[in-house]
Amino acid sequence: MRRPFIAGNWKMHKTVPEAVRLAKQLKVMLHDEVEKKDIVLCPTFTALQAVGDTIRGSGIKLGAQNLFWEPEGAFTGEISPGMLVDVGVEYCIIGHSERRQYFGETDAAVNKKVKAAKAHDLGVIVCVGETKQQREDGKTEEVIHTQVVQGLDGLDVESPDRLVIAYEPVWAIGTGLNATGEDANAVIDFIRNILTDLFGSSTAEAVRILYGGSVKPENIKEFMSQPQIDGALVGGASLDASSFAQIVKY
Ligand code: 13P
Repeated sequence: MRRPFIAGNWKMHKTVPEAVRLAKQLKVMLHDEVEKKDIVLCPTFTALQAVGDTIRGSGIKLGAQNLFWEPEGAFTGEISPGMLVDVGVEYCIIGHSERRQYFGETDAAVNKKVKAAKAHDLGVIVCVGETKQQREDGKTEEVIHTQVVQGLDGLDVESPDRLVIAYEPVWAIGTGLNATGEDANAVIDFIRNILTDLFGSSTAEAVRILYGGSVKPENIKEFMSQPQIDGALVGGASLDASSFAQIVKY
């Protein structure tokens, strides 16, 4: 049985005081959940330290939304894996569709970031997903296959609990249009088969694969009742303490 993994991606939301307030509320509300589930909060870079201080000792984990693969140097505006570890980050989202869409992030860049994270013993949440057009053209599997194979190319998975994949169909992100539990399960099953080809079945069976895209308190059960779905990557609904707590407690 894989341990459920629920992460809140706060995207570019919340000032430091707002982020701390939300983290404090969640610490109280999720007190009884941390034993059973991995719960990860991914605030902006500016709020990492303060949120990390707030949740320290609570069992809730700190996550980041991006990193750059070089350890240090003249890379204005970038943050290295070691810097994230330094402030207590345990998982980093990599290759989110918004980064692919607005910042030109490629599968090759995702691959470098995943490997750099691993070199610092930082867990990753690698995002994959097809656009609406790709789905309509019947290309979902082809797109997902390329993203997974190229994103994880040459990776040595020694700790499968540090590798998390998030299936986030782009058309379901922030639109209120979620995939059905069954459709998401089918794609996630497909992803697990790719992982089996790449890393063998015992690793593939241990990796958590999440669904993301308009996850809400009202639909979380539909996803979590599917055999291949191990958790959720939550955007909008993670910005409110009670809705995120309801999702975690599904
Ligand atoms: P929403 O939950 O707002 O659709 O966002 C999903 C997402 O992109 C999480 O990374």
